[in-house]
Amino acid sequence: MGLMRKKITVIGAGQVGTTVAQLVAYKNLGNVVLVDIIEGVPQGKALDLQQSGCLQAFDSIVTGTNDYKDTANSDIVVITAGLPRKPGQDRSDLLRTNAEIVKSVTEQIMEYSKDPILIVVSNPLDAMVYLAKQVSGLPREHVLGMAGVLDSARFRTFVSLELSCSLVDVDAMVLGGHGDSMVPMPRYTTVSGISITDLMTLEQIDRLVERTRKGGAEIVGLLKKGSAFSAPGASVVKMIEAILQDKRRILPCTAYLEGEYGWSNIFFGVPVELGAKGIDKIIELNLTPEEKKQLDKSASDVKVMIDEVDAFLKK
Ligand code: NAI
Repeated sequence: MGLMRKKITVIGAGQVGTTVAQLVAYKNLGNVVLVDIIEGVPQGKALDLQQSGCLQAFDSIVTGTNDYKDTANSDIVVITAGLPRKPGQDRSDLLRTNAEIVKSVTEQIMEYSKDPILIVVSNPLDAMVYLAKQVSGLPREHVLGMAGVLDSARFRTFVSLELSCSLVDVDAMVLGGHGDSMVPMPRYTTVSGISITDLMTLEQIDRLVERTRKGGAEIVGLLKKGSAFSAPGASVVKMIEAILQDKRRILPCTAYLEGEYGWSNIFFGVPVELGAKGIDKIIELNLTPEEKKQLDKSASDVKVMIDEVDAFLKK
């Protein structure tokens, strides 16, 4: 039994969903089921990906479907269904449209899988992951949002470009909501263990923090149509790997708070230990008053959207 392949279902066969499916297969993490409402697209993309298996040397079985029966007994379900942001549109505008989609998707997942781990990607992220938890009734250990891994990958990239140093030496922590008030944490952003506060001027740090906050919008502005997918897909797969291989990695993830950081009943980006059980623990940092102030501001922005979701669920 222990040798059975894991089943990873990806809802939404768009840009992010396809990237996740591809990386999961390339890394041989398990079998992949790609689901979309559009007929033919998940099937076609799955078949194409499956045909790359002999070239990429993976054994994962990749299937596409419009029927949730095929998702039965998934270990992990990644939700990317929804509409991406348009240029100039902020994440809150998306709330209503994507809430309908994420609600119906979550209900259908839960019909066929008893206790999956959900990783939500759809925007507005903090609101959609909260909605998925409310609708699924899953314990908080099993419901995660992907935001911090991506936002900190962006911060890491900007730090390495600024210092002309290797990307692999740079680590970063970005906490809070996945919006303009997200909180990149310079004190916890390091190059080979050295905090960037020792390596850069305040002006440099502020500039990179600002670019990180607007990292998604920068790409939307360039692409004109659609939003980022390579780094988002890779970020999701980093989380899947941590879970399926019980790595107990400490990653910034969007998690349900029950008093941590002084907040309850919201989803928020915090450092979590991620392993086979999902969230093993939430790590509380000793924040400076300024950091705490920024996190509280971000949490109150998230709270506004969570209230909108609660209103949506009541109607
Ligand atoms: P996309 O438009 O390429 O793909 C979305 C897919 O969802 C489409 O194929 C669409 O047919 C499908 N879909 C729509 N309604 C559905 C339903 N009811 N059931 C199943 N599938 C359905 O969009 P993309 O670029 O893949 O982005 C997906 C979502 O992820 C967006 O909401 C985007 O804003 C968000 N996103 C979040 C990030 C994060 O950091 N959390 C990063 C990147 C994207």
